[in-house]
Amino acid sequence: MCMSNYILALDQGTTSSRAILFDREAVMRGIGQYDIAQSFPKPGWVEHDPNQIWESQVAAARDAIAAAGATGQQIAAIGITNQRETALVWDRTTGEPVYPAVVWQDRRTSGACEALKARGLEGEIARKTGLVVDAYFSATKIAWILDHVEGARERAERGELLAGTVDSWLIWKLTGGTEHVTDVTNASRTMLFDLHRRAWDEELMRELRVPAAVLPEVRMSGGLFGIARAEWFGAEIPILSVLGDQQAALFGHTCLEAGSAKNTYGTGCFILMNTGTEPVASEHGLLTTIAWGMGEELYYALEGSVFMAGAAVQWLEEGLGLIDNPMASEEKAMEVPDTGGVVVVPAFTGLGAPYWDMYARGAIFGLTRGTTAAHLVRATLESLACQTRDVIGAMEKDAGMPLTGLRVDGGAVRNDLLMQFQADLLGSEVTRTVYAETTALGAALLAGLSAGFWTREGLEAFNRSERVFKPAMPEAEREERYAVWQDAVARTVGWEKH
Ligand code: G3P
Repeated sequence: MCMSNYILALDQGTTSSRAILFDREAVMRGIGQYDIAQSFPKPGWVEHDPNQIWESQVAAARDAIAAAGATGQQIAAIGITNQRETALVWDRTTGEPVYPAVVWQDRRTSGACEALKARGLEGEIARKTGLVVDAYFSATKIAWILDHVEGARERAERGELLAGTVDSWLIWKLTGGTEHVTDVTNASRTMLFDLHRRAWDEELMRELRVPAAVLPEVRMSGGLFGIARAEWFGAEIPILSVLGDQQAALFGHTCLEAGSAKNTYGTGCFILMNTGTEPVASEHGLLTTIAWGMGEELYYALEGSVFMAGAAVQWLEEGLGLIDNPMASEEKAMEVPDTGGVVVVPAFTGLGAPYWDMYARGAIFGLTRGTTAAHLVRATLESLACQTRDVIGAMEKDAGMPLTGLRVDGGAVRNDLLMQFQADLLGSEVTRTVYAETTALGAALLAGLSAGFWTREGLEAFNRSERVFKPAMPEAEREERYAVWQDAVARTVGWEKH
């Protein structure tokens, strides 16, 4: 039994670097946070400064330790969770990045992805990696940096450069440049990792032009990744977990078994369902990915993303001026008993899973002379739940197993009306937990498990529900309302082509 008091979770996200110190009861004792500058050098390009990512992450961790009145000696382990897919390349000797981090949202390699499709590689990539060919993933971003920074490709071939996702960058820095490693969840987002063999794929590395010499060694998500040097936090601390942030949230919700799922309601929604110990290939537009792995145990997940969730509520505020802030949406929606037949499809930038139609555009159906702002607000809130059901429905079909309940986190989960409607529309319980920081918690739980701080069975104790929303809508009504939604979505498909 380990005698230290704390686990330090580093949560390096798209908009901020956060750090949280958890105690033995998984209670937050200290928190630190710094924003990350977003750079948009050209339309569709999104970059971060790798040195700012590193410096802000160390500063946030120091703040979290200080806020708890703790010292580095009292920390049993570090767990790392990170924005996924964002790609970095740096010099193995000097540690200097050769180019800014190319962020997951960056579309500059769309053309390269079209070329991969034209060469007929889609099927092989899907079979091996579980992914669709898209600029979202890391591989084409790494190749782009190697092709566009003078001399980088030659230096990479000679083994002078290293490449990886944000987790690898942080570990390399924390360990003083001794470890170039990543975990299975982050590797599964590159388009280079064979989910079945659990190894980098030589053929894909050749086709996507990423040399083996630059890539990190892949380890299980729970286990030793290296030792953070004493200069950072006052003591040497082992790094005992690494997970991509959506997978960490799944773990933080203790969705450790097949059939359990989580939805994070952010700008969009990231929905992941644990599908068990074998990868499930999607026939309904979802991604197959790794949920977590430790020792001999490895779980897979199906993932679906909805593009517009919180962003649709923001549109009610900023675009239409119907509410003063996102939290006011609940009160406004409650002014009316239902949407009055109004359906809002917020396909502002096309539709994500399971439709994948970049030409769809938003629409409002069923307007009458009696339609009010409250109806529009209520219909927009309901669209978040409908889109979630679209993805969950696809997951159930792909996985051949029913949802055993949905656990939720993110800003919109404070909205009781939305959560109740979500349970009604799914016909399944929706559980809101007491934790606001599920992502950091997931990294901490896995690190603590690796450290012997907790046991696997003991993790269930951290499955703390704040409120469970039970489905109350009769099945016939539920199916009828969902059918109306699906009809509305079908009418938005391909709109931009007009
Ligand atoms: O796949 C991208 C995702 O990991 C980003 O998450 O929370 O940093 O926006 P977040």
